[in-house]
Amino acid sequence: MKNYKIATIPGDGTGPEVVREGLKVMSAAAQKFGFKYETVNFDFGGERYLRMKEVLPESAISDLKQFDAIFLGAIGHPDVKPGILEKGILLKLRFDLNQYINLRPVQLFDDRFCPLKGKTPADINFTVVRENSEGLYAGAGGNLFKNTPQEVAIQESINTRFGVERCVRYAYEYARKYSRKKQLTLCGKTNVLTYAFDLWQRTFNEVGQEYKDIKTDYAHVDAITMWFVKNPEWFDVIVTDNMFGDIITDLAAMIQGGMGIAAGGNINPDGVSMFEPIGGSAPKYTGQNIINPLAAIGAGALLFRELGEEKAATAMEQSIRLVVTTKLKDLAAGKMGYSTTEVGDLVVKSL
Ligand code: IPM
Ligand code: MN
Repeated sequence: MKNYKIATIPGDGTGPEVVREGLKVMSAAAQKFGFKYETVNFDFGGERYLRMKEVLPESAISDLKQFDAIFLGAIGHPDVKPGILEKGILLKLRFDLNQYINLRPVQLFDDRFCPLKGKTPADINFTVVRENSEGLYAGAGGNLFKNTPQEVAIQESINTRFGVERCVRYAYEYARKYSRKKQLTLCGKTNVLTYAFDLWQRTFNEVGQEYKDIKTDYAHVDAITMWFVKNPEWFDVIVTDNMFGDIITDLAAMIQGGMGIAAGGNINPDGVSMFEPIGGSAPKYTGQNIINPLAAIGAGALLFRELGEEKAATAMEQSIRLVVTTKLKDLAAGKMGYSTTEVGDLVVKSL
């Protein structure tokens, strides 16, 4: 019997509560589909940072490389200045583990939870493939004359042929393997960012020659925010850079029903990938057993899919859908009609 090694990083705020429910459903699914996994817990997050004055121990990256996957709750603490934990933990893990894809499936399960008038589950079902290792997130730039009237701040977007090509290629492969319409849209800003997105566009076109079965399309990032609201049904798979992907996936999360349901994966196709609910640590709901764990459970499903446990992943997703459509009053924290732990139990029951 397969026995996977999964590192858990519950992290801050409501992270531990949702990770617990995620693991509850994952262990039921593993049992049902005939495989096992062991977890090792890592205490990375704001509490540890405040206690030890260190974001990550020296050995973190080499330790995490020993696992088949990482299951993350949330990173972010109200008493820690913005940027320290995000850059020191989340982005460091993404970069150092070479998780160069951020995969964000977007699916509406029930029209009751869509803020858009007249849109149904058939209309909102697409995936964003976000480049996860370069762009504005690379950290290139600096300050001159800081705290003077002449201050200059430069933040550069790094786009390498290598980085862009591997991302675009992943998106074509993903479209071929999983998508409904065999359609891939490049989201960029070729009319203004004429260096970076010229590289993206050329790479997209060239790699596309190898994927003649995939229809291609292009949308500017500003326009795509419009289409997400007006015609989300147009989209199937979207590939974009790190910053644009960050922005459009928050909008996408809202049209699929909110942060309570939005899951994502930080993927290194040849290494250790990390899966997370994208909602953050939600400090004000911490410890109340009212946060929605479905995003974390969905992240667990993505984790299993990456491990090759497609049946378990699909079953978990179907159970989430069933619970959303037949049980929950709302997807928001405190309004579900059930507690966090009860929602986890409901998903287990419907597996
Ligand atoms: C996300 C988050 C992160 C990002 C933050 C927390 C650094 O917003 O995963 O989308 O900007 O990538
Ligand atoms: Mn984000």
